[in-house]
Amino acid sequence: MSKSISGFSKLSKIDKIDWIISTYFSGNHAIKDTLKQYWNSNDKLQQLHDEFIENTISNYYLPFAVAPNFLINGEIYTLPMAIEESSVVAAASRAAKFWMERGGFKAEVISTIKIGHVHFMFSGNSEKLQGFFDEIKTKILSDVQPITKNMEHRGGGVLDIQLKNKTELLDNYYQLEASFETKDAMGANFINSCLEQFSSTLKTEANEYSEFTPEENQIEIVMCILSNYVPECLVKAEVSCNVENLNEDENISANDFAEKFIRAIQIAEVEPYRAVTHNKGIMNGIDAVVLATGNDFRAVEAGVHAYASRHGSYTSLTHASVENGVFKFWLEIPLALGTVGGLTKLHPLVKFALELLGKPSAEELMKIVAVAGLAQNFGAIRSLITTGIQQGHMKMHLMNMLNQYEATANEKLKLIEHFKSETVSHTAVIEALNDLRVKS
Ligand code: MEV
Repeated sequence: MSKSISGFSKLSKIDKIDWIISTYFSGNHAIKDTLKQYWNSNDKLQQLHDEFIENTISNYYLPFAVAPNFLINGEIYTLPMAIEESSVVAAASRAAKFWMERGGFKAEVISTIKIGHVHFMFSGNSEKLQGFFDEIKTKILSDVQPITKNMEHRGGGVLDIQLKNKTELLDNYYQLEASFETKDAMGANFINSCLEQFSSTLKTEANEYSEFTPEENQIEIVMCILSNYVPECLVKAEVSCNVENLNEDENISANDFAEKFIRAIQIAEVEPYRAVTHNKGIMNGIDAVVLATGNDFRAVEAGVHAYASRHGSYTSLTHASVENGVFKFWLEIPLALGTVGGLTKLHPLVKFALELLGKPSAEELMKIVAVAGLAQNFGAIRSLITTGIQQGHMKMHLMNMLNQYEATANEKLKLIEHFKSETVSHTAVIEALNDLRVKS
């Protein structure tokens, strides 16, 4: 039986599911129930989700949680977090509480500039191209006015546009590189629309430019697209306290904790294998808030990891120091986020998340998200250098295992109590569950 199909997107939702079941599940109609149990009984809400993307056949649930007690620049926030990993929200909440008792998080936006390019090929004289660009720059900027008008009212717009000669990297390769301020919008649509207009002016004007030879008249536009690398859209978050206030754990002194903590950060600074996992832990916090607030976590991920390798080797995004008895721990990352447009008004939970945060501006959200990353990293490093990561992780994972083996509410209560003093492992959970079942 053929596993390909044409015109799939035109089928109704049920017909799509039927085709999948007959093609991939040997006609097993129980699959339909699996998919349908996640449909929303509110038809309007379901339709909204159906129409976010093409070929929707169900909804994919992620837990939506909150982490309270984040004191950021003197204000207390409860962070919305959408994530499946058992221990992330618990770790964030614990780190938030720890730092709330020590002055909280400080965060500041360093810059908010975003970049986009018209990538094009030009096989003629580069000085002539520069002269041409200088002549048409004003026209490029005036042609884009209908697109930028609204953004300018909000205080944003095109900041600058430059011609970049990239022929040392690739024969005949040039760019129009434009910088933008997009205020509370993430700005992808705005930037891409501007770039496409720039390219249209560039091509038309080149065609008519009398100084160019007939070959030079034919600029080849390759593509117009924003860059998700935003090293000039930067935010910094930090915590600090006296070393002696640092630790709550009686098994390690505050001094030893600070020293070991800094050692762990130094390892992530010099060893890319460790840096990737270290930064992944930071992204646990960042992605969860980015996703809950309806932002594009793939864009954030791509930009953050590029930033982590900006000096030629992948390194830690956080840093720590002790100076004059004061422990300082900080994170600096690029974040292109929006609090208007996109899903912000459409998705009811995104709307809720933004309201929970007090309807933040994009800059405020940058600070909150950076803090979530720093808190998560603090929690991870603290566990790694003291108890080890598995203790907390497996405790949180216990519920997943109990659910997997269909433990009853009573069995769950008993086993959670049991594992307060026992090490959680897959085998230990199965054994304890079997013992319980045999006894009853
Ligand atoms: C797990 O999701 C994240 C950690 O591996 C992060 C880290 O190692 O720093 C615990």
